[in-house]
Amino acid sequence: MTIQAQIKKRDWTVHPKASSTQPLIPLKHTLSELTGPVFGHNAVKKIEADLTKNAAKKGKEAIGERMVITGRVTDEADRPIPGALVEIWQTNAAGLYGHKGDQHDAPVDPNFFGTGRCVTDEEGRYEFLTIRPGAYPITRLGNRWRPAHIHYSINGGSFAQRLITQCYFPGDPLQDDDFVYQAVSNKAARERLIVKYAPEYSVEGFAAGYTFDIVLRGQNATPMER
Ligand SMILES: [Fe+2]
Repeated sequence: MTIQAQIKKRDWTVHPKASSTQPLIPLKHTLSELTGPVFGHNAVKKIEADLTKNAAKKGKEAIGERMVITGRVTDEADRPIPGALVEIWQTNAAGLYGHKGDQHDAPVDPNFFGTGRCVTDEEGRYEFLTIRPGAYPITRLGNRWRPAHIHYSINGGSFAQRLITQCYFPGDPLQDDDFVYQAVSNKAARERLIVKYAPEYSVEGFAAGYTFDIVLRGQNATPMER
């Protein structure tokens, strides 16, 4: 079967509605959009994928429940995407972002900033060591809380393979009331945003393993963030 025959078109009904008052227009891609470079090739260092230490003072580390989070980045024909830039950002274990604009009354972790990046390998696999993020309040919406989540930005092999999304954790009751999670109207698609416990990636006595696979395009594309 040819690659073209394997490609299944994006299911627009599962992605959050755009805030624009006009309907979205799928663009026909030119060759340069499909083949042009998408990010600089400055070396990404290994330490950048370790959020427990990449902002810590010498000999220190972030406080929290350590976790390995890994997964494959694939395209609409289930082909791995090597060389994709995967960037994540998240709160500390207490639900506070490392940004002075975050006014949540929660403890600062001086050894955690909450950002990391890495590049996928030949199998399209990425991996981070981090700590489990905390929930945080959205006070402009009243007494509401966002469930624990990690933000992802993925630059694939071309501009047409850019995705921004968030992953969540199993069994979190705050998801029921979350306007971002619930903006994905299809239950099966929402469940694709939940990380899976994967003990084969755990580091014994040190960190629990989880997987979060990302599909950049096509029918099974990972739902975008609202
Ligand atoms: Fe967030």
